[in-house]
Amino acid sequence: MKITRNILLNPGPATTTDTVKLAQAVPDICPREKEFGDLMEFCSVEITKFVGDPNEYTTVLFGGSGTATVEAILNSVVPANGKILILDNGAYGKRMCQITEIYKIDTIVFKSSSIEPIDLASLEATIASNKDLTHLAMIHHETTTGLLNDISAVGKLCDKYQLSFVVDSMSGFAAIPVDMKAMNIDYLAASSNKNIQGMAGIGFAICNKKALERTKEIPPRSLYLNLYAQYAYFEKTHQTRFTPPVQTFYALKQAIVETKKETIKKRYERYSKSWETLLDGLERLGLEYLIDREHHSRIITSIIEPESDKYDFDEMHDFFYERGFTIYPGKVNDYDTFRISNIGQIDYRDMEAFLKVLKEYLKKIGHLDQVTA
Ligand SMILES: Cc1ncc(COP(=O)(O)O)c(C=O)c1O
Repeated sequence: MKITRNILLNPGPATTTDTVKLAQAVPDICPREKEFGDLMEFCSVEITKFVGDPNEYTTVLFGGSGTATVEAILNSVVPANGKILILDNGAYGKRMCQITEIYKIDTIVFKSSSIEPIDLASLEATIASNKDLTHLAMIHHETTTGLLNDISAVGKLCDKYQLSFVVDSMSGFAAIPVDMKAMNIDYLAASSNKNIQGMAGIGFAICNKKALERTKEIPPRSLYLNLYAQYAYFEKTHQTRFTPPVQTFYALKQAIVETKKETIKKRYERYSKSWETLLDGLERLGLEYLIDREHHSRIITSIIEPESDKYDFDEMHDFFYERGFTIYPGKVNDYDTFRISNIGQIDYRDMEAFLKVLKEYLKKIGHLDQVTA
């Protein structure tokens, strides 16, 4: 079967291999069968191994998008007398704040620039002056802008002040290396449709087992999105409490096999080469980007929109879409941007092809009149 290859330059769901797509076509199976339990166990253990030792860490799987998993972690791990600091430097940090507000979890928000690195001294001063803090949560890679947050440095602060550390690595996991133990991370959220290059529908909460066991006594704030209940039920039965996205799990298994084969290191190198190709091209075409190279995730680039009366994002989107490329709007309030991601089963040659179409579009709107490209 021939499947059209679309180049997705949005930050996930990403372009996948045909083998991942086709892995979903399997004989019908009831997810309560042992065979399916083994498949979920394989996914859980192998996902854990990308970031930690399965003897000390475990991956709890949820049917749902990435946000469901972030919500499950946040509502499940902070006790009634606990208090969490959330670092907000973009839309996803803000989303964490919305979640704890809904669950009425005692929260303080540490706001940080959406384009500059975190001021660690100021963060430490805030932590030190809030003696009742028990948890700290932040985003690894802020997909809003492409800013890579220094989770290692914040992990050290969490160790120093004995805070349980929650990281949303939705758009970092499986590309940007993470070592949960070395970084003092207790809970890491990720999902099946970004750098792991699977299909959308499964969220991963990778947990420090000891920390997770301690949440057993916290009265559940949610039935479906309770971390400990999901973990304990799977440990006991080898099943999820509610219907899992069956075929998506087969695709995930294949995506894991392919990630192990490529290795995370090489995957990040492939992504980085596409990203460098993109940035070099943008510079040639006279377009500016928000985050400087040093603090960039190399995963998604926020590009300042061209100055032309004829520019219109939707029209540009359609221009690309007709030519096989999907691009993404911007998400930062203070800047007019659009975003190009370089994750998924694509490489620098796809980025070169994209740049040719971008050049065509820029010519069409008159942006290239002043630029020699
Ligand atoms: C850092 C981060 N957190 C959370 C999410 C939300 O994931 P989902 O859209 O799968 O709920 C995203 C999605 O792009 C993300 O980049």
